[in-house]
Amino acid sequence: MTQPTAIIGVVGLAVMGSNLARNLASREGNTVAVYNRSFEKTEALLAEHPEAGFVAAKDYTEFAASLARPRTAIIMVKAGRPTDAVIDQLVQVFEPGDIIIDGGNALFTDTIRREKAVRETGINFVGAGISGGEEGALNGPSIMPGGSAEAWESMGPILKSIAAVADGEPCVTHVGTDGAGHFVKMIHNGIEYADMQLIAEAYDLLRRVGGFTPAEIADIFAEWNTGELESYLIEITAEVLRQVDAATGSPLVDVILDQAGAKGTGAWTVQSALDLGVPVSGIAEAVFARSLSSAPAQRAAAQSLPASTETWSVDDRDAFVEDVRRALYASKIIAYSQGFDAIVAGAAEYNWDIKKGEIAKIWRAGCIIRAQFLNRITEAYADDPELVALVTAPYFADAVGSALPSWRRIVAGAALAGIPTPAFASSLSYYDGLRADRLPAALVQGQRDFFGAHTYKRVDREGTFHTLWSGDRSEIEATDTH
Ligand SMILES: NC(=O)c1ccc[n+]([C@@H]2O[C@H](COP(=O)([O-])OP(=O)(O)OC[C@H]3O[C@@H](n4cnc5c(N)ncnc54)[C@H](OP(=O)(O)O)[C@@H]3O)[C@@H](O)[C@H]2O)c1
Repeated sequence: MTQPTAIIGVVGLAVMGSNLARNLASREGNTVAVYNRSFEKTEALLAEHPEAGFVAAKDYTEFAASLARPRTAIIMVKAGRPTDAVIDQLVQVFEPGDIIIDGGNALFTDTIRREKAVRETGINFVGAGISGGEEGALNGPSIMPGGSAEAWESMGPILKSIAAVADGEPCVTHVGTDGAGHFVKMIHNGIEYADMQLIAEAYDLLRRVGGFTPAEIADIFAEWNTGELESYLIEITAEVLRQVDAATGSPLVDVILDQAGAKGTGAWTVQSALDLGVPVSGIAEAVFARSLSSAPAQRAAAQSLPASTETWSVDDRDAFVEDVRRALYASKIIAYSQGFDAIVAGAAEYNWDIKKGEIAKIWRAGCIIRAQFLNRITEAYADDPELVALVTAPYFADAVGSALPSWRRIVAGAALAGIPTPAFASSLSYYDGLRADRLPAALVQGQRDFFGAHTYKRVDREGTFHTLWSGDRSEIEATDTH
């Protein structure tokens, strides 16, 4: 019989699980149990990393027997049915008080369902978003656990020990109950989509309008990475743009097929935001831009459509680069502002007590959107925990305000020249919509009342009203049918 020596176990030893297991094993005093459905992966991991001292299990019974009580296991398998299959097995061999952590990219509503079902057995279930890809899993990811306070108390120390560290603080916090962790991880990924699309639009403008080569643009991004845009995504963009294809001698970016893939978390963010009624337009445009890029038949058919007759030539290239930089920063602020709006709305809908400033803090290292800029978000929520929109916080309002002339020049110039900037343009439109004194929504309400008697409210009187459109067009007081 296996002795219960391991303090934690990992189920699923593909790239993420094996790296996380190695990370856990590398911490002082940790013995880690490992299990994978097909034993070959377990054997390969053991052979490649004898230094980790893994306790390998061939089945779930052995796995459970190797774990000290209360048992804690992290599942790192393909999200969806495989996760359910593993949970079903673990529930058979675990006992009340044990903890099952799902570290995969689960849809948060699945996590809510799973947490409820597993709780009935007395076992704790924790959905934990883990960001940072394979490198993060190995060296320190940003971890977003949900689940009960009791489970957090028990597993918090070990998660803190393996998380990335930013300014001396581990990038992990108890996000909220049940699906809160996976919800916040989903929003993180949505923001990541927006950030990447905005960077791609900046690159496209620098290339097509500024006339810079990929290597020159790499230098521009490297320079931007020393200022307020400093972030992992800006840093890796410079690296990608500097890369030369060995086979052709061309910049690698020129030989990569221009069809962007997606694994679904961006779409989930937008779907959830639609349900919550939160405009995450920057994120939505980023998801749609990938969809458009991946529709080759439509793109081929549309090649013959008229282009712009305007050309956009810039006399002062330095000023143009600065305009693009400012437009990028302002649009990025909007993407984060919208992402945090979705977090606030999700917290209200699902009864989660999410500390926005803490979320910004745990994204400062380990994850894909890591950036110094996140400190500003933490500060904004520290100054005003009830802040209604991030973009209205003094620092961000100033930053967007000073970027505004550049932002408008870039969006207008791109529209005239026929260069697509869906994320830049929608972010600017969102900004103008948000700050508008009066919106054409009044007309929409009038239309809704006309065809569907949906009623409207007035600016000058309390109450709900309807115009008798097919009668004498007089106005009556009505029951609210919004
Ligand atoms: N945070 C990030 O940056 C990031 C990056 C990548 C992935 N992820 C998430 O992390 C998780 C693991 O990702 P990954 O790329 O390492 O692996 P993956 O390719 O998503 O999944 C492969 C693993 O799932 C196991 N598996 C599949 N179906 C199973 C089933 N029915 N029962 C038991 N095990 C099953 C496989 O076992 P076999 O070897 O037996 O087939 C293998 O261990 C996923 O949820 C993924 O979405 C996160």
